[in-house]
Amino acid sequence: MVSLGDVRRSAATLFSQAQHLPALRLYDAIVAAAPLDYDARIRLADCALALGNVGAANVYRATAWYCLKSGHPLAALVCARVLEAHGADASDLTSSLVVHYGSESELLGKGATRVALPPDSLAINVPDVRQPGPPDIVAQALHRAEHATDAFKEFPAALHPIPLLSTMSEAAFKRVLATLLLKRLPAGAAAIKEGEPGNSFFFVAGGALRVFATDGLGRTTDLAQLGEGAVFGEMALLSAQPRSATVECLTDCDLLEVGRTSLATLADEIGAVAEALHGFTRERLLGNLMATSPLFKPFNRMQQRDLLRRFTSHDVAPGTVVIHEGEEGRGLFVVLAGELDVSRRTSDGQTVPLGGLRTGDVFGEMALLRNARTTATVVATRASTVLFLARDVVARLAASMPEIKSYLEALAEEREIDNQLVLGEDETPADERILI
Ligand code: CMP
Repeated sequence: MVSLGDVRRSAATLFSQAQHLPALRLYDAIVAAAPLDYDARIRLADCALALGNVGAANVYRATAWYCLKSGHPLAALVCARVLEAHGADASDLTSSLVVHYGSESELLGKGATRVALPPDSLAINVPDVRQPGPPDIVAQALHRAEHATDAFKEFPAALHPIPLLSTMSEAAFKRVLATLLLKRLPAGAAAIKEGEPGNSFFFVAGGALRVFATDGLGRTTDLAQLGEGAVFGEMALLSAQPRSATVECLTDCDLLEVGRTSLATLADEIGAVAEALHGFTRERLLGNLMATSPLFKPFNRMQQRDLLRRFTSHDVAPGTVVIHEGEEGRGLFVVLAGELDVSRRTSDGQTVPLGGLRTGDVFGEMALLRNARTTATVVATRASTVLFLARDVVARLAASMPEIKSYLEALAEEREIDNQLVLGEDETPADERILI
């Protein structure tokens, strides 16, 4: 007996090596032991299709119906897309999807349950795939996969909504469905690479993905794991900034991609969709800030949340001056999203750019540390969100957390040196600073 998780991984490896028959036999072993494993059924059909067996179509279709009825509508859509790609009609599946999971469906509700995939730990019997199997092995496997859930006839009393899609009008839902592009990626592939431009976002129909960010020194920080139903890739699309993280497949993954052009077809619904996507983004940005910013490092998860609550959040339009050079330091700012420029006026009235600020960057610390007036102007160059912590709160925090104080001091010192290089000036010596 071998664990189902190990069998699935071996089957995926064999498939990636174009060993379609042995892979099919392993998926068949999973279906025999766990008929509700719709993922194994879909992948068994993939193997049969790769072997040129048209019987695969019946398996995709039967599995799609099961997925619709068991609360896995995106997996059903994967089957529909594969069928369409091979010239078959899948409009009955997509219509049912809209009827049952669209905003007008009466089945959508909180009390819904979803029939989960069997656990990876399930012990199953596997054939020795190095030995030849019976001659009708493919036909047998297809028959088993097609009829695995024949007893599952009815839709349940309640279904979980699909994030985003179930909130749209039926007309918009249909339009988006028609443009969703199926991307099937093997384990290890990157769906999104940090730093690249982004013109689309994705729904996870199946599989598991890891989200991680890399800092300037090449160190990676894990930000999240994503599974069925998750949405990702929305940040770069909304902000027109490069991808903020890499999203890599931990297993074989089925993704449904929504491109910028298909979003444009949503016309009057686009505002609601953008708002829903902004909701995901904001939570993620706050989570990432806590995971990656040195300001939050000294704290445990609960303290981080507590600290975050003390910040106020401000959306600023491009051109907004967040700090005026020469004003009193009001507090500490953190860039949650967007981009800001820092500049200083020289004695002869010239404006010298000192640098840019991006997501996660802290600013406003110099005037606080020196208890002096601000030494530069900070202007938003694109629509941005900044978090603000008033100076008395920062002072209390720095007094009780030496790590915070030394982080801010190091940051100010580093920036001062950079500014001196840019301006060619001799700044106040470090030992003359008054620390908060
Ligand atoms: P984008 O910046 O376009 O590309 C990388 C994606 O990773 C990003 O959009 C988000 O969708 C996703 N992402 C970033 N941080 C998190 C997080 N903390 N949790 C889940 N997903 C995230």
